[in-house]
Amino acid sequence: MLIAANWKMYKGPRETREFLDRFEPPDGVDVVICPPYTSLRVAVESGRAVYAQNVHWETEGAYTGEVSAAMLVELGVWGSIVGHSERRQYFGETDETTARRAEAALAAGLGVIACVGETEQEREAGDTEEVLRRQVGVLPEHDGLVIAYEPVWAIGTGKTATAGLCQESHAFIKTLVDTRVLYGGSVKPDNAAELLSQPDVDGALVGGASLDVDSLTAICRAAIRS
Ligand code: PGA
Repeated sequence: MLIAANWKMYKGPRETREFLDRFEPPDGVDVVICPPYTSLRVAVESGRAVYAQNVHWETEGAYTGEVSAAMLVELGVWGSIVGHSERRQYFGETDETTARRAEAALAAGLGVIACVGETEQEREAGDTEEVLRRQVGVLPEHDGLVIAYEPVWAIGTGKTATAGLCQESHAFIKTLVDTRVLYGGSVKPDNAAELLSQPDVDGALVGGASLDVDSLTAICRAAIRS
């Protein structure tokens, strides 16, 4: 089981250090911390597995505001999230740019958590499988690639996919690519066990509930029991 904590734009270096000083996950679960760029160094110093939240496809160049895979490697970062729905929604990320970011990161030796998932409108129109086929289809096949299935309507909304619906989408994704698939979208200590016990759910990408040490620890414990 893999539990990835996506801190989004929360926790600068001081709060990151305080959190990681207190955080003692149980044995038997892989935990990845994904803090903002400015907190990466402090997080790496804690000895934990650390992923960035995004990565550019070029090694260097005139790309204001971007960070390359080589730069993350130099810092001791293990990998990166790519294609998060907030990047797609607010920053013009597309399937194509997501794939380019994934390819560059994997080529540099980083792990990748690539996010896919349908919007509420797409689900209601019956387009979920078509959307997933398109989003997964552009990604490179690679041992270092993990998919995070995050239905957009369940992110930060408190609306969690039912365990059955989540299992259905995970099983479908596994017909497209042979890799681990994490679930993301309002995972909390009280729903983690049920979601994580589904046969094709290999872990979780946790946003809001990963910002609190006790809550993230409880989710890690649920992962072990599942
Ligand atoms: P959430 O976020 O757990 O706050 O819904 C998940 C994510 O965006 O990765």
